[in-house]
Amino acid sequence: METNLLDFSGKVVWVTGAASGIGRATALRFAANGAQVFATDVNEAGLEEVAARILEGRQRVVTALCDVSESAQVAHAVKTLTGEYGKLDVLANCAGIAAGAPIAAHDEALWSKILRVNLDGTFLCSKAAVPLLTKSAGAIVNVASIEGLGGEKLLGAYCASKHGVIGLTKVLAKELGASGVRCNAVCPGAINTPMLRQGAEKMNETLESVIVKKTPLRRIGDPDEVARVIVFLASKQASFITGTTLTIDGGLTAGY
Ligand code: NAI
Repeated sequence: METNLLDFSGKVVWVTGAASGIGRATALRFAANGAQVFATDVNEAGLEEVAARILEGRQRVVTALCDVSESAQVAHAVKTLTGEYGKLDVLANCAGIAAGAPIAAHDEALWSKILRVNLDGTFLCSKAAVPLLTKSAGAIVNVASIEGLGGEKLLGAYCASKHGVIGLTKVLAKELGASGVRCNAVCPGAINTPMLRQGAEKMNETLESVIVKKTPLRRIGDPDEVARVIVFLASKQASFITGTTLTIDGGLTAGY
C-alpha cells in the first residue's frame, strides 16, 4: 500500500502567480513535497526570490515571466515548460488581482481587467495545459475565493470573476473526468498576503475590527494554510474529489 499520498516526487507542477502570497506559498509547498516546479508570474524579482528558496531545498525549479491574461504569453510559457520538463502533472491557477468600486461607479476598464486576469487567465492557462494534463491524468486547482460563493459590496468585478472561476472548475471537471483529470477550486477567506493588506487599506477597514471579529478562529489565515489544501487537492489523497470547492476561511462563512 502506498503510504505517502502527498508525495510529488517525479511530478511537474505549474504554479501561476508564484511570485507572491498564496502562489508563492504553493510553489514552496509543492517543492517541499518533492515536485519539480514551473513558477510563472509578471513579477520577475518575486520569481527570482521564490526560485532561490526552492533551490535552497535542492528541488528543481524553472521560472518564466507570463501574464496569464495574454494568450501568446501563456503559449510561450507552455513551450518553455515542455522544453524544460516535457510533461505536466498539476496546474495551480493562483494569479489574481483585486480592486473595488460600487457597480454604479465602476470603471469599465477596471472591470474588464479584473475579469481578464482572474477569469480569462484561469481559462487560458487551463486550456493550454489540458493536452499535457490528459496525458498525465493530472489535476487542476483553481484559486477562487469566498467572494465566489456570495456577494460583497464594492467587489463586483472580483466577485463575478471568482463565481466564474467556480463555474469553470465544474465544467472542467465534467469535460476532463473521463481522461482521469481532476479539477477543483479553493475558496480562501482573509489570507495574510500583499493583496489583502492593500485591499484593507483602500477600503479603510482594519482587519482586526472587521474581519477577525467575524471569524470564529479569530485570526486571518497564513498563505501556507491555503497552499497545503491546494497540494492536498492535487494529490492522490484527493483521488475521488473533482468539481468541488473547499473553503479555507477560519469559519468566516460558516454562518452564511
Ligand atoms: P498577491 O498579490 O500576493 O499575489 C498575486 C500574484 O499574482 C502576484 O505575484 C502577482 O504579480 C500575480 N499576478 C497578478 N496579475 C497577474 C497576471 N496578469 N499574470 C500573472 N501573474 C499575475 O495576492 P494573493 O492574496 O496571494 O492572491 C492569490 C490568489 O488568491 C488570487 O487569485 C486572489 O484572488 C486569491 N485570494 C486571495 C485572498 C486573500 O485574502 N489574500 C482571499 C481569497 C482569494
